[in-house]
Amino acid sequence: MKIQDCVALVTGANRGIGAGFVAALLERGARRVYATARDPATLAAAVAADPSRVVALELDVTDATEVTGAAQRCRDLTLLVNNGGAAAMTSFLAPSLDGARLEMEVNFWGQLAMARAFAPVLAANGGGALLQVLSIGAMTVFPQVGTYCASKFAAHAMCKGLRAELAPQDTRVMAVFSGAIESDMSRNTPGPKIPALTHAHNCLAALEDGQEEYFPDFRSQRMRDAFRRDPEAFDRALRGRLGGG
Ligand SMILES: NC(=O)c1ccc[n+]([C@@H]2O[C@H](COP(=O)([O-])OP(=O)(O)OC[C@H]3O[C@@H](n4cnc5c(N)ncnc54)[C@H](OP(=O)(O)O)[C@@H]3O)[C@@H](O)[C@H]2O)c1
Repeated sequence: MKIQDCVALVTGANRGIGAGFVAALLERGARRVYATARDPATLAAAVAADPSRVVALELDVTDATEVTGAAQRCRDLTLLVNNGGAAAMTSFLAPSLDGARLEMEVNFWGQLAMARAFAPVLAANGGGALLQVLSIGAMTVFPQVGTYCASKFAAHAMCKGLRAELAPQDTRVMAVFSGAIESDMSRNTPGPKIPALTHAHNCLAALEDGQEEYFPDFRSQRMRDAFRRDPEAFDRALRGRLGGG
């Protein structure tokens, strides 16, 4: 998968990590970038960056009609960046399940709808790739935000399944386990974070490098290493943060 001359679509492209992907794709020579958002008016800055290459589209990944419409409109796509995500950040015993349902709706069902709609388009264009923005919360559960992690675990399962299902048509699937990236979503996450543009460049380089399960920042790499050393001890330490044993 080469980024130079690719045609990409980014969901949630109006801010944060998605905006970083649009900028990095342009810097790496993408031929066209479909920058999508629920409110296309919020994509003005993305289009202004390069009006000849950036196409703004309205797209809510939970809206089946808009997802189908995007797949019909973007017949030249070779790279789908499934980035848009929701974070209610609730625990499993939170008073309401509304946040948990929203997270699953966007982070799992929405990303799956996009993958299903664009799989034939990618096949028709030689295979291409699917870049899935998951989270370090797809590797282990942070109990304070357990429902978010559940949606990312589900999306991780989807990545593994799709990787096998899409292999015959030569479509690559890369899962990204982001840790701490500068954005609105992470504004209350303590500690250092990497800029969204750096995150995007890291991910696109890893995609070109042929990686399948990628940890793009120092926070996610540190957690991956600690988790792999002793998964049970890692989970115990997370439980301890909630005051549990
Ligand atoms: N920041 C981090 O440290 C971090 C770490 C791990 C994983 N992630 C993941 O990275 C991705 C991007 O998050 P972010 O950090 O950039 O957060 P963000 O600044 O809050 O941006 C979230 C993006 O997702 C979009 N979105 C929400 N619901 C959508 C829907 N139904 N359809 C289409 N787009 C939708 C938002 O659009 P609106 O502007 O319309 O709301 C926004 O563009 C998410 O999947 C998130 O889970 C982030």
